[in-house]
Amino acid sequence: MTLAVIILAAGLGTRMKSSKPKVLHKLAGVPILNHVLNTANKLEHSLCAVVHGKNGDLIKSTTTGDNLHWVLQSEQLGTGHAVNTAITALREKLQAAKVTQVLILYGDVPLVDVNDLSRLLTTTDSDQLGLLTLNSSNPFGLGRIIRDKDDDNIVAIVEEKDADSHQKLISEVNTGIFLLPYPMVIPWLKDLKTNNNQHEYYLTDIVKQAVSTSTVINSVTVSDQDSYRGINNLYQLSQAERHYQFLYALRLLEQGVNINDPNRIDIRGNLVCANDVSIDINCIFKDQVILGSHCLIESNCVLKNVTIGNNVHIKANSIIEDSVINDNCVIGPFARVRPQTVLENNVNVGNFVEVKKSTIGEGSKVNHLSYIGDAVIGKNVNIGAGTITCNYDGFKKHQTIIGDNAFIGSNSSLVAPVTIGENSTIGAGSTICKDAPDNKLTLARGQQKTIENWQRIKDNSEE
Ligand code: UD1
Ligand code: CA
Repeated sequence: MTLAVIILAAGLGTRMKSSKPKVLHKLAGVPILNHVLNTANKLEHSLCAVVHGKNGDLIKSTTTGDNLHWVLQSEQLGTGHAVNTAITALREKLQAAKVTQVLILYGDVPLVDVNDLSRLLTTTDSDQLGLLTLNSSNPFGLGRIIRDKDDDNIVAIVEEKDADSHQKLISEVNTGIFLLPYPMVIPWLKDLKTNNNQHEYYLTDIVKQAVSTSTVINSVTVSDQDSYRGINNLYQLSQAERHYQFLYALRLLEQGVNINDPNRIDIRGNLVCANDVSIDINCIFKDQVILGSHCLIESNCVLKNVTIGNNVHIKANSIIEDSVINDNCVIGPFARVRPQTVLENNVNVGNFVEVKKSTIGEGSKVNHLSYIGDAVIGKNVNIGAGTITCNYDGFKKHQTIIGDNAFIGSNSSLVAPVTIGENSTIGAGSTICKDAPDNKLTLARGQQKTIENWQRIKDNSEE
């Protein structure tokens, strides 16, 4: 058996009520279509093609995938027309690759379980038509599977808009996933008609042709209706999103991650957790996030592309991006750690602190209301509340270097480029424009004066 996969993604998606092509709407942070391509890539195939409509360039530029073939369906005349257009355009390639079966996936059905596809592939011979059907408690809107009363064989698929009241009661529906025998299917596709209520070429009508040519129809029936619901509108997209997230959360719970509420977590990428990790509600994990053992992530945190060591405590409402956080750090609440930051072991970054492109050495603390940008901070440094690195002169960014054991008094401004020596102390409220030496107290502020005999102006306005 040699397999080709064709993904249908040319539909107008009018029910989304959006100028964006349907398959580019995001599910778990990536375009819906990418989920379908990922599934296709898990199957051994010799060719994979996407059928697109007029937004092809946009779809191509947003979609990941190597060696994809793109087929333009310039008019959206139905799913049967889309498959026929693709097979006609790819004919030479299909022949050259000696393809015997063509798997049809719908670009708007993204949560398909690859194990179900494997079952369909292993049970369908290359001279049979394979169908993946679904038992659904809510079949509304989907094609109904009509079976012969005597031998239970599939004889037709009837679309919702063409179904009579008896057919509408059928709970077995078409998932949209077909395994077509190739090249047997070529004449079937050519013969499709538009004599239905939507005046479209339905792919589903090839079932009748398979029956009339005595082709065996093999079906695999699944029951996870949440995974096989197509996405036609934004409500269905939101349902698919919650289903995806719930399944992801369940997998993590099974691995021993303590997720407070599996309905209130969002993973838009990969989340890898060591043992005894706890995650409170409403956290968002983007791209690749790695959490070491015994990490505690409090509520409402956003972590994007970060690697976090063991025993790290991230307090509520903190945002961390493109950074590395080492063991035993405490971050937040309300901290913002921006890209290219490295926190060594035992660092504290407290409330309303922003750190950008900086390294903070082991045991150092920036506990309150600070901005640390383009800085290299040594070990056991204490940065007082309200301290700012003035890293930008209006044209360029400059570096601040702070030696080990330095103590920066509260509300200091460190005007970069500047170096604060090891073990030095900066008096509170200083504006430091020149390097400060090791082991000394440096002050840069007006001296405190008390004015004798000074009196407040009295308010005489009422007199
Ligand atoms: C389709 C099936 C229905 C099935 C349901 C499962 C048909 C006729 N109906 O209905 O039996 O239960 O999916 O979700 O096949 N597309 C094209 N070109 C076109 C038309 C559609 O590429 O001319 C693509 C769409 O982008 C979409 C897919 O085919 O990815 C399905 O089309 P859609 O219009 O959503 O079909 P449904 O009404 O959902
Ligand atoms: Ca659909």
